Amino acid sequence: MRLAKFMARAGIVSRRRAELMIREGRVRINGYPVDLPQTDVCENDSVTVDGKMIEGIESKQYVLLNKPVGYISTAYDTHNRPTVISLISGVEARIYPVGRLDADTSGVLMLTNDGELAYRLTHPRYRVKKVYHAWVNGLPNDRILNQMSCGIIIDAGKTAPASVRLLEALVVNNTALLEITLAEGKKRQVKKMCAAVGHPVRKLERKSFAGLIATDLPEGLYRHLKQHEIDALYRMVELKV
Ligand code: URA
Repeated sequence: MRLAKFMARAGIVSRRRAELMIREGRVRINGYPVDLPQTDVCENDSVTVDGKMIEGIESKQYVLLNKPVGYISTAYDTHNRPTVISLISGVEARIYPVGRLDADTSGVLMLTNDGELAYRLTHPRYRVKKVYHAWVNGLPNDRILNQMSCGIIIDAGKTAPASVRLLEALVVNNTALLEITLAEGKKRQVKKMCAAVGHPVRKLERKSFAGLIATDLPEGLYRHLKQHEIDALYRMVELKV
């Protein structure tokens, strides 16, 4: 980020005033005086004005991505696979995914740099709803759907009650489309639940996260959340709006 913008973001002065201060020689990066407002500042640089250190304050950003298959939901990958962050251009803040979707899962993924909100949205206490559409092998009967709704054992623990509905049954292909709504988020939970009842997942898409949906948002694109959506998330996890 440009030095003058960094100072303005930190909330100490306006961009114009920051430029003036820089030209007056009052600003140093890592101890060295700089006089060009367009000088780049990196994450680890220390910036002082008249000898006093200033802290960077990033504005809060809230983004909803329609994640395509093939991208991993971490900020970095040691195996050099493409990350969801590589799909977000034009957001200067260091945003990160709220929870995860597997690389082969598509759909709604929220990213933010609002740490407290992200923490609460993924905390089981707030029972934030996630809606998935899962194409599974075979045709699960009512007994199985009921079993999945009530809770089944995966990873040596029982899943919380969930809503599981049969949306489509393609008898000729021997596949079915289930809508599964979870209020918890164990690792690979949908795939494990379906596999545990003998109907492994072929394809998985998240349709909604905390009420957020990706209507009119093509795969691979993102949008900023609207203020009323952010307010609703805050209320959902008992944060003050
Ligand atoms: N459950 C899964 O199995 N995978 C996901 O990506 C999300 C939920």
